[in-house]
Amino acid sequence: MNKDFINLVEKYYNDMGTKAINIVDYGGGNLSHYKAIKKAFPHLEFNYTIVEKMIREGYHRYIYEVIDSGIKDIDIFHSNSSLQYSRDIDRDLKDIIRLNPRFIIILTVAITTKETYVVEQKNLSGISWYGGKTIPYLFFNTNYIKDRLVGYRQLYHNQNSFINIERAKLAFPDVPEDEFISANMLFEREVCV
Ligand SMILES: C[S@@+](CC[C@H](N)C(=O)[O-])C[C@H]1O[C@@H](n2cnc3c(N)ncnc32)[C@H](O)[C@@H]1O
Repeated sequence: MNKDFINLVEKYYNDMGTKAINIVDYGGGNLSHYKAIKKAFPHLEFNYTIVEKMIREGYHRYIYEVIDSGIKDIDIFHSNSSLQYSRDIDRDLKDIIRLNPRFIIILTVAITTKETYVVEQKNLSGISWYGGKTIPYLFFNTNYIKDRLVGYRQLYHNQNSFINIERAKLAFPDVPEDEFISANMLFEREVCV
């Protein structure tokens, strides 16, 4: 559970007024962040829309499905430890812009000072949401996401080592250990004057 999401909702709580907050959670099908938000703000009303590819039926599978569904005025697009599994990242980033959320919060993505690259994540036995043996996993160049979120300004970027280095070594045996860096990013829509 990444606390940055809770902090964002808290910080902009008043600013968003009393209306229901519209959240789109990409990769949120395990409901971890939905439950955390409900617990942190029991009196606040949410419209919580999930984009989820793997673990459960019944959610939108692509961002464009949310756009096509006519859901409007998204306050927060949120993704924790999920965007690196995108099968078409440039399309997804374009669709995030089309969704036009006020804030985009992208948490726990692997970043690199190299060019963006994709590796097979191995040793998935402990990952219940994915049935295969390996899954493509993106390491993003530090600027990759920011450069594509045209019309958004970055409010913060922070980065730390992966929480579980030993597991990362098993998952990415060909990736040097100093590449195990995870970033959190927050963007806000630029205001047109
Ligand atoms: C590591 S889990 C993170 C789950 C949750 N966001 C959390 O923080 O606990 C990655 C999630 O992304 C979902 N996912 C993987 N590929 C996806 C895709 N292309 N589109 C949407 N969700 C995807 C997986 O099914 C899984 O639920």
